[in-house]
Amino acid sequence: MKVTVFGIGYVGLVQAAVLAEVGHDVMCIDVDETKVENLKKGVIPIYEPGLTPLVMKNYEEGRLQFSTDAQAGVSHGVIQFIAVGTPPDEDGSADLKYVTAVARTIAQHMTAHKVVLDKSTVPVGTAEKVRDAMQAVLNERGVEYPFDVVSNPEFLKEGAAVADCMRPERIVIGTDNDEVVNILRELYEPFNRNHDRMILMDIRSAELTKYAANCMLATKISFMNEIANLAEQLGADIEKVRQGIGSDSRIGYHFIYPGCGYGGSCFPKDVQALIRTSEQIGYTPRLLQAVETVNNEQKKKLPTFVVRHFGEDLKGKTFAVWGLSFKPNTDDMREASSRVLLETLWSKGAKVQAFDPEAMDEAQRIYGHRDDLSLMGTKEAALHNADALIICTEWQNFRAPDFDLLKNTLKHPVIFDGRNLYDPERLNKRGFVYYAIGRGE
Ligand code: UGA
Repeated sequence: MKVTVFGIGYVGLVQAAVLAEVGHDVMCIDVDETKVENLKKGVIPIYEPGLTPLVMKNYEEGRLQFSTDAQAGVSHGVIQFIAVGTPPDEDGSADLKYVTAVARTIAQHMTAHKVVLDKSTVPVGTAEKVRDAMQAVLNERGVEYPFDVVSNPEFLKEGAAVADCMRPERIVIGTDNDEVVNILRELYEPFNRNHDRMILMDIRSAELTKYAANCMLATKISFMNEIANLAEQLGADIEKVRQGIGSDSRIGYHFIYPGCGYGGSCFPKDVQALIRTSEQIGYTPRLLQAVETVNNEQKKKLPTFVVRHFGEDLKGKTFAVWGLSFKPNTDDMREASSRVLLETLWSKGAKVQAFDPEAMDEAQRIYGHRDDLSLMGTKEAALHNADALIICTEWQNFRAPDFDLLKNTLKHPVIFDGRNLYDPERLNKRGFVYYAIGRGE
């Protein structure tokens, strides 16, 4: 099938590459000329395991095209994905300007029936806005073409995006037109073998499903972080508690890892956006507000430990920081807890020597102007002359470091671990002072 994808961000690029891989003829449109030219040369704007070879292969084999020509994009596919960003505006609501701009562009150039699929995470009611925006343009043009607007939220995780997209757990389709379902069955048929993963519903329910999923996951994390804080005060070990409750299949082991707060481009933004949506209809979302508050507090956990150990004034101190990305297997630092840590340490006069396996360029882009940050080539180099080590991200190669080297290199044998990577007892025996989440000191 011929498919057009507007917006070559995370969601758009991965979706496009995966659709091309199963044989569809996909054209990606973006307003960013540099991005489009780079993609044609095989330069992928994000780090995502498996994505570069997939994009290059499908581009070279002609099933995946990149262009800034919106008109060509609109005439290319019956199916038009909207996969542009919905950044938070000043009050935390999702800003729909890019989504409605694409809607208008499609209506501006269409000369036949189009099925518009909303992949971006958008507030309930957006499909109606997209429909109105398109209809207004068609009216201005004085033409009448049939079109459908469908909510088709994406559930991929950064770091596992290609695999999630290739083998989706569910394909949520929100539509009020049964005939469209047949077109989408054909589109998603390669991902829908063995058992039916398509879940059909009305448009508003599909839009809310996306927020409900992310907010439920964020709730699990904030809940665990709250219990971790209690465990710390009560002399219990949250890691034992986690295993104890995860074994109940109704609770499960997924997404109950305590830590230094959730980050990324989705949870913080989506929790906030659903809070704003609730407030707009006069409902006070107490639970969601608490989820957000707990998370904001949790991001202060590591700097609070540092101050507890070294005092308020950190002038003359240097800290090694391992992990800057908001989670492993990505270079994304949006809303990462490392940023709260770094900025708090700097505000108290400390210097930082940081290492991350993938996010060094991103750190350079965000903080390159600072002379109190040194970006180091290896995790060992980050330790040199540092007073203590702080861990923000659970990258695999941080899990079994050479503890003797650590002890000999750091000025003080102190580790602040925001991801509970090590056994406190073993570290204490080796002579470390070990701060972790919900496990006492
Ligand atoms: C999230 C959802 O997991 C995806 O299903 C969704 O499609 C995506 O948002 C989106 O809306 O596009 P993502 O932001 O890539 O995906 O990251 P997650 O793997 O969900 O992790 C989010 C944060 O939660 C990370 O900072 C991670 O460290 C933290 N986390 C996760 C915990 O602190 N504890 C856990 O047990 C799990």
